[in-house]
Amino acid sequence: MKKITIAIDGYSSTGKSTVARQLAEWLGYVYVDSGAMYRAVTLYAIRKGFISEERFDRKGLIEKLPQIELEFRKNSEGKVEMFLNGENVEKQIRTLEVSEFVSPIATVPEVRRKLVKLQHAMGEEKGVVMDGRDIGTVVFPNAELKIFMTASAGIRADRRYRELLERGDKISYEEVLENVTERDTIDTTREDSPLVKADDAIVIDNSETNIEDQFHIILQLAKDRIAGRV
Ligand code: CDP
Repeated sequence: MKKITIAIDGYSSTGKSTVARQLAEWLGYVYVDSGAMYRAVTLYAIRKGFISEERFDRKGLIEKLPQIELEFRKNSEGKVEMFLNGENVEKQIRTLEVSEFVSPIATVPEVRRKLVKLQHAMGEEKGVVMDGRDIGTVVFPNAELKIFMTASAGIRADRRYRELLERGDKISYEEVLENVTERDTIDTTREDSPLVKADDAIVIDNSETNIEDQFHIILQLAKDRIAGRV
């Protein structure tokens, strides 16, 4: 059967990764969470002191980029996890601290170049579902299916807040809402590869749609393209 490339872009906490993972599993495709890669670089930058509330040493980080090795590995349940220089950092990259610094890190063109190169290699043979901010515009502009996910900021913040609470993080809803809106601003206004809808992307607003309905809508769009109906 023909294999396609599926690009899912959109604002933070719109449930991109949930639907991307479901699609990849259903279709037997590779799932790539490109945000996890930016988060892993951010964790590295925090640990090495390149970024904090007080400073951002872009030059220092750029010099060390060749020393950052990123890899996705499947755990025993088949879930893909992020490894940074051989260490499983799947949990550490999801904290609000990493979320606070990831968008500034993602503005650095050298960081983006390094990650886009890895993303190209992962999607080389098609049969990939990748989610992020610039997948349909920059990474795979020829993707057969492009989805642009959106939802109201309040709903997105509420979803992320619940997720973080469940993990035991001590945060307030206001902090999460502030982070979500601040990342939206940085991601949409940065110079290199800003978050914009690709001309040929299909917009899905999931403010009111549940996870299952959303999955079936997007799966149908994928099936139509695999079968050559579109
Ligand atoms: O899961 P969530 O929507 O909160 O974000 P993510 O997909 O984990 O991405 C975290 C951050 O990485 C985003 O806010 C962007 O700043 C950056 N990112 C990017 O610039 N380009 C991508 N392809 C993916 C993520």
